[in-house]
Amino acid sequence: MITIVVAMGKNREIGADNQLLWHLPKDLKHFKELTSGHPIIMGRKTYESIGKPLPNRTNIVISRKNDWFEEGILIVGSIKEALKFAKKIDENVFIIGGGNIYEQTIDLADKLEVTLVDAELRADTFFPIIDEKKWLKTDEIAHLKDEKNQFDFSFQTFEKILEK
Ligand SMILES: NC(=O)c1ccc[n+]([C@@H]2O[C@H](COP(=O)([O-])OP(=O)(O)OC[C@H]3O[C@@H](n4cnc5c(N)ncnc54)[C@H](OP(=O)(O)O)[C@@H]3O)[C@@H](O)[C@H]2O)c1
Repeated sequence: MITIVVAMGKNREIGADNQLLWHLPKDLKHFKELTSGHPIIMGRKTYESIGKPLPNRTNIVISRKNDWFEEGILIVGSIKEALKFAKKIDENVFIIGGGNIYEQTIDLADKLEVTLVDAELRADTFFPIIDEKKWLKTDEIAHLKDEKNQFDFSFQTFEKILEK
């Protein structure tokens, strides 16, 4: 099972200047619960944005650079290689961004765990369009903003519609 995890705004915006667009501790907790104990795959820019390996998960980072090394992560040269390594570790694999990697993997995923943030923000990175013909929303849980979470948001699960 390949699951994409993303938080996006109303215009599918996900990042600007290699940063996230919001501070939503409830979403970070949700992300941690979904991915802990499983391999996570990300692009080199997302890794640099996070700045360190995320604990209790095998961090697999995709880059075309062959002179780049970091402790505590597995660096691979392609999406295919990332998925091959991840699947050896666990049958549940999570792709955690960013925009470039989402674009190339949305058609390979079985499930999308989307946090839809009720905001429209300036961004330079976006999630691809979720095609209603290919994806069925199977779950949705709404959360209201509070003193720690700056926007309303909802956790939405989409499952790939299997072709007959
Ligand atoms: N809201 C969210 O849920 C979320 C999640 C994750 C990230 N983000 C945001 O997204 C932004 C980063 O996304 P991004 O699109 O700029 O970058 P990215 O997808 O994180 O990383 C792109 C890099 O990955 C490597 N790469 C991509 N495709 C490859 C391939 N087929 N083979 C080998 N290497 C490949 C390249 O690294 P090299 O240049 O090293 O070759 C490329 O420059 C940030 O703003 C971040 O905060 C948001």
